[in-house]
Amino acid sequence: MERRPLLAGNWKMHTTIAEAEALARAIAQTAIPADRDVMLAPPFTALAAVGRVLAGSPVLLGAQNVCWEEKGAFTGEISPAMLQDVGCRQVIIGHSERRHIFGETDGMINKRVAGAARFGLVPVLCIGETLEERESGQTFQVLERQLRNGLLDIKLASGKELVVAYEPVWAIGTGKTATVEQAQETHHFVRNLLIDMYEKNIATQMRILYGGSVNPDNVDALMSQDDVDGALVGGAALKADSFCSIINFKKSA
Ligand code: 13P
Repeated sequence: MERRPLLAGNWKMHTTIAEAEALARAIAQTAIPADRDVMLAPPFTALAAVGRVLAGSPVLLGAQNVCWEEKGAFTGEISPAMLQDVGCRQVIIGHSERRHIFGETDGMINKRVAGAARFGLVPVLCIGETLEERESGQTFQVLERQLRNGLLDIKLASGKELVVAYEPVWAIGTGKTATVEQAQETHHFVRNLLIDMYEKNIATQMRILYGGSVNPDNVDALMSQDDVDGALVGGAALKADSFCSIINFKKSA
């Protein structure tokens, strides 16, 4: 099954509005191959401005988190209706920084996924093990727990309604990328889990992104793996040159 690659930039807590506009403009002006999708997830403060820059371009606007309620007394949260209003199409949920720095649980993440889906936003559900978990042989157990709990009672009519991002915590911001073999082995495991949870045609249509120190030098090899359908990029997405090189990856033979 051919899956359309998705290259997504997670800008995390970076950029002023002016910096975000300049970065988005540089990316939107680059020639993006027609066979792939590109998504930018700036901080909430820059969503409206980046949305205006991206108007008329194929680049998708995404957010970095979302609440499950439409509105109400939820100080500090942003609702799926608000993200829809500002033009977001996708939203990152369950990023390891949310889980490990801010204590988000699988239950909370599941509610966020449900909220996003209810408003037609495509959740980009992040899962990933810590170094300790990998070294003690618990990687698959951890990923299975995060995936099954994060997707509890989430019904999908098509594989396009959800994206999964595998981001090993030890590879985020460390310059330490998973080897292509580790990435493929883990993505294949995630694919099989998805086949167990959803109909096969839905699971094989769903994109599984790799994240963790992706850069212009390693993206070709990663994207050449059968079950790696895209990249969720942090540091290398903050410079137009490096993100544009990543967008223009070429599969190696
Ligand atoms: P880096 O690309 O900086 O390692 O960050 C990865 C990430 O967390 C993307 O969501």
